[in-house]
Amino acid sequence: MIVRFKLNGELMEENVAEDERALDFLRRIGMKSVKEGCGEGECGACTIIVNGKNVVSCLMLAAELDGTEVLTTEGLSKKGSLDPIQEAFADIGAVQCGFCTPGMEMSAKALLIKNSNPSVEEIKKGLEGNLCRCTGYFKIIDAVKKAAGKS
Ligand code: FES
Ligand code: FES
Repeated sequence: MIVRFKLNGELMEENVAEDERALDFLRRIGMKSVKEGCGEGECGACTIIVNGKNVVSCLMLAAELDGTEVLTTEGLSKKGSLDPIQEAFADIGAVQCGFCTPGMEMSAKALLIKNSNPSVEEIKKGLEGNLCRCTGYFKIIDAVKKAAGKS
């Protein structure tokens, strides 16, 4: 079947299989920031933003993207300049192996879209679906605080 949707601001029209996951589809068309960790909706590595909300793409069918607006980490930076979230993650060193980072940034972005000045508790809640094996979370929370108000 054909899906028509906006990906990182660009209109797309793509063929998808009925049982294809959004995760596999997005990677197939080049969105390699979308990572597969658990494949079961538990780790958040595959998080994307659909219509302004963070969702796990491993539990979504590509067909469900029809008519939506999708943002992946590839769409965060514009014309070579990083999004404030990306800048803050880099400045603060909220990245170690980096595997969780795109999904983490997508959840942070979704949080800041609806709440530009979140409290630490609200940041923790916004990122609760994203697991990180490396950083211990403190720097990630600091990075989201730093990006708040600038995204
Ligand atoms: S790969 Fe989707 S939540 Fe883990
Ligand atoms: S930086 Fe390695 S899993 Fe988060």
